[in-house]
Amino acid sequence: MNNFKNLRGTVDLLPDQLIKWQNVEKIIKEQLFRSSVKEIRTPILEMTELFMRGIGEGTDVVSKEMYTFLDRGERSCTLRPEGTASVARALIQNGIKTKPSQKLWYMGPMFRYERPQAGRQRQFHQLGVEYVGYKSSRSDIEIITLAWDILEKLGIKELNLEINTLGDHNDRLSFQKAFLKWLEVNKNSLDLDSQNRIDKNPLRILDTKDIQTKKILEDAPRLIDFLSEKSINRYLSIKEKLKLLKIPFIENFNLVRGLDYYTHTAFEITSGALGSQSTVCGGGRYDNLISQMGGIETPAIGFAIGLERLILLSGNELEENRGTDIYIVNKGFDAETLAISLSRRLRNYDLITELDLSGASFSKQFKKANKLNSKSIIVIGDDEALRNEFVIRLFGENSLDNKEDKISFDDSIKLEKWISKNLLATITSEN
Ligand code: HAM
Repeated sequence: MNNFKNLRGTVDLLPDQLIKWQNVEKIIKEQLFRSSVKEIRTPILEMTELFMRGIGEGTDVVSKEMYTFLDRGERSCTLRPEGTASVARALIQNGIKTKPSQKLWYMGPMFRYERPQAGRQRQFHQLGVEYVGYKSSRSDIEIITLAWDILEKLGIKELNLEINTLGDHNDRLSFQKAFLKWLEVNKNSLDLDSQNRIDKNPLRILDTKDIQTKKILEDAPRLIDFLSEKSINRYLSIKEKLKLLKIPFIENFNLVRGLDYYTHTAFEITSGALGSQSTVCGGGRYDNLISQMGGIETPAIGFAIGLERLILLSGNELEENRGTDIYIVNKGFDAETLAISLSRRLRNYDLITELDLSGASFSKQFKKANKLNSKSIIVIGDDEALRNEFVIRLFGENSLDNKEDKISFDDSIKLEKWISKNLLATITSEN
């Protein structure tokens, strides 16, 4: 006997769970549509080099977490661990020069070989938004408020916005010099993981979870003190605008994010209602990524929201299921053919129809219609087929005092009238 199982860190999403996913995705897409953000779809599989160059070889994502393999042509391929590098590549490849500023979104699976736990998987899903070609601090504000509003629209509670600035390349170089000097002196007091990061990615030491190291870091040089006046003013204007918009935030000077491409603004949104994996959204500015990857100098900013975490956080009201509008009970050779043709016609009316394909007894088919909470049923048996008509009536809790109607298969007008009189009213009153 075969005993196949899904791979660790991946999950099956079953129809009942997907009702909530689809509702969440619908609310997100509506919000993006209203904000003039357009969809982009890039391949799930990319050249490994893209992520090494784009995200940075010293990052955990690239050095430990990528699903990388050689294809049959001996090319190194990687299942995308995130979407920003792919969007940058696609824009460069498709001629970014012709359209300098674009607001883009994508949604789909990402892959990271991490230790699975609640809210952390190896195949997970992100909604990503990228504003490409936008320089002013107003785009930082728009991106942050867009993320905030999407989370609020979904009714997510206990949201906390943390922001920081990483300055530009030169700011970071001068900070890094001072920080490395300090690390040299304090190396032995740091946890092992942080010690290992000194050569590979010293900035990420600031992001440590180790309590002892955190305490020692309180005396380390701060990046904010090494920023140029221009970078500081940029940061101050963002804080000012967030205050004016009444978006509450806290400054976290240790928020450096796990990917190397960030410049200036970095932010994360966490929710107290999640467990240890509390970051539901992460993002920031990446003004050098596109030029580093061979494109023209193009400032950009974006964020990604983890959909699994969003689903964990969003309320049960998003699980609501509309149910079946019309269930077609049918039996007998001619009746079954007529039933198929009628169900195809009914799909033009924006109704949820279900055609019984079981060939089971009428009573069993009625039971099934009942189980699906069908609002109405159509019955077609041999007699009806002979007369070229069907019986239609409201069903279940809607059926009180309702008489049956007989409608000829050729009488579309009577069918439409019946639907609008009896069915559309119950559907709109429910929604
Ligand atoms: P990130 O912080 O690596 O950023 O990921 C964004 C979000 O994806 C996280 O806050 C989390 O909600 C979710 N996430 C990450 N890893 C996992 C996992 N293993 N399981 C479940 N959820 C996860 C980025 O990916 C950047 N590309 C965001 C960005 C876009 N920055 C600028 N533009």
